[in-house]
Amino acid sequence: MNDSNRPLAGLEEVEEFLKDRYPEPATVESTFKATNPNKRKEEFRNYEANARPSVREFYRLNHRYQTYDFVQTKRKEYLGLNRKQMSVWEALEFLNTLVDDSDPDTDMSQLDHLLQTAEQIRHDGHPRWFILAGLIHDLGKILCLYGEPQWAVVGDTFPVGCAWSEKVVFHPFFADNPDSKESHYQTRLGVYQEGKGLDSVSMSWGHDEYLYNVVKDYLPPEALYMIRYHSFYPCHRDGEYGYFMNQQDRDLFKWVQAFNPYDLYTKSHKKPNLAELRPFYDELIREYFPAQLRW
Ligand SMILES: [Fe+2]
Repeated sequence: MNDSNRPLAGLEEVEEFLKDRYPEPATVESTFKATNPNKRKEEFRNYEANARPSVREFYRLNHRYQTYDFVQTKRKEYLGLNRKQMSVWEALEFLNTLVDDSDPDTDMSQLDHLLQTAEQIRHDGHPRWFILAGLIHDLGKILCLYGEPQWAVVGDTFPVGCAWSEKVVFHPFFADNPDSKESHYQTRLGVYQEGKGLDSVSMSWGHDEYLYNVVKDYLPPEALYMIRYHSFYPCHRDGEYGYFMNQQDRDLFKWVQAFNPYDLYTKSHKKPNLAELRPFYDELIREYFPAQLRW
């Protein structure tokens, strides 16, 4: 299928686009000092100009419809966690029924990608909770299986209810967002307070925030930050929105940055051997999670 008869990017295409846009792994030192902001801005424009039409369309819809009110509605709809009870494996298997037809060249499933990410983290000798965060970090994409459109599941996230950073990709598309006409949402801080912490800020709705709420009672804060903010590229790659952060955010974003290369660049063509890996991951899941989680 070519782009002209496929109106919207698939999950893979949006993620490939992110990888093109952020070609080098984040380093903890570099992210919070923008060395040459003008150059970065120029590069952004190029990525936008060269993006596939389907990816453009994805961001057009995302920026048009992710309003402050939309996010509050979704939070009410999902964060009561009254939809299902599933174990982590059941959720992994459920996610695996999601077929991404944007990427016909690979027979890698969603589960394969998650296992690859986790295995790479394990290979590099990181703590067990880090490996577990790698395994589950995209489980929130089951939102797609509840019928949510892709623009409300994947893509970069950004705060709503305040001015959009110019570093958010395809920033001009925000002109069509109804919040652009609400002056109280268009100041630097919008409806929030400086330095009060990202926990007080509503992010555009997607798989990060949903999964964070499912697992927040069970994992150490470092792992929870990785899960909750892994798509918040304007912050963890470009250092934007620092004025909302408190000291805990600043400390723990190091882990979001440590996680990012595994999320973005782990893509081997070797299919993980599930039968071989299963005992290790069964034990790891049992170490942190109860038998059933509320979704
Ligand atoms: Fe993700």
